[in-house]
Amino acid sequence: MNAIRSVVRGIGSYLPEKVVTNAELSRRLDTSDEWIVQRTGICQRHVAADGQATSALARIAAERALADAGLGADAIDLIVLATATPDQTFPATAATVQAELGIVRGAAFDLQAVCSGFVFALATADAHLRTGMFKRALVIGAETFSRILDWEDRTTCVLFGDGAGAMVIEAVPADEAGARGVVTTHLRSDGRHRFKLYVDGGPSSTQTVGHLRMEGREVFRHAVGMITDVIEDAFAATGESAESIDWFVPHQANRRIIDASAQKLNIAPEKVVTTVDRHGNTSAASIPLALDVARKDGRIKDGDLVLLEAMGGGFTWASALVRW
Ligand code: ACO
Repeated sequence: MNAIRSVVRGIGSYLPEKVVTNAELSRRLDTSDEWIVQRTGICQRHVAADGQATSALARIAAERALADAGLGADAIDLIVLATATPDQTFPATAATVQAELGIVRGAAFDLQAVCSGFVFALATADAHLRTGMFKRALVIGAETFSRILDWEDRTTCVLFGDGAGAMVIEAVPADEAGARGVVTTHLRSDGRHRFKLYVDGGPSSTQTVGHLRMEGREVFRHAVGMITDVIEDAFAATGESAESIDWFVPHQANRRIIDASAQKLNIAPEKVVTTVDRHGNTSAASIPLALDVARKDGRIKDGDLVLLEAMGGGFTWASALVRW
């Protein structure tokens, strides 16, 4: 049997129109542009319009990824949508996106790994394509974190924003794909840390949506170690290294975490793609948002080796190496 590789065909993203700057937040909260920029690197975030649900953001990102791939929606037979802010408890937001794209075959489901969601979704879609079960997947990260923030809590609300990103991957026989495609993925979770970053509500506990709660210092303390461990796993599995990768596209949570991780791994600063300043932490959407920027501005070229990583609630953490 000819082995299959999951090759990237297209990338797209969407940020809602409404922008909330640090200056605006500092007019309603005891905070400042200086504090937020110095601690996080975030200058602004985008917030979905009233009535604009996660599926609406996801759909636009998906349409842009399909356009980038030069494919119609009918080419897709799998949607894996990572979100911690679904439209409803059920059905899956992926099912809404599938219907709105007019896709009536294959499967669509949500995946919940919070900020690590996109890498978990990519690994899941890749595994499904490699079995031969599906031919082309939309891997989506989409969030409306503005709906689960406590806007009175300055320690959390300044950090997050809304957005969506999508990638089209295609099953290609390995001899045709050559070096292109998803090279390796590494997923980790440790539920002992689940109350360091969580939402204090849910259908089966409080029957409310709840608000995001976080021990920021504890998250920070664990983040760099977990990120570097799972990247070292990717390097060990493939023989690649900080020198051989072309781009490092980390989860965009916080500039200090990104810089500290790159420094610990000896990744040259010019290889690091950072977009957190423009949209804050968009959880599962942040990696495809950053990938789309770096692809469209000409940094990521065909054949480039791209390192992805994320860490988030659970804790969950993950890495992927993708040859574009
Ligand atoms: N504006 C002004 N002051 C603030 C704000 C704010 N928005 N938020 C907190 N402070 C105050 C605190 O009340 C505290 O005041 P005190 O000294 O009088 O008590 C002071 O600033 C310092 O607070 P710390 O929490 O110690 O600040 P720290 O330097 O740790 O920075 C931060 C906080 C930015 C949250 C940091 O801990 C961090 O980045 N953690 C990681 C969080 C993260 O990125 N989470 C995202 C999800 S996980 C992921 O995606 C990786």
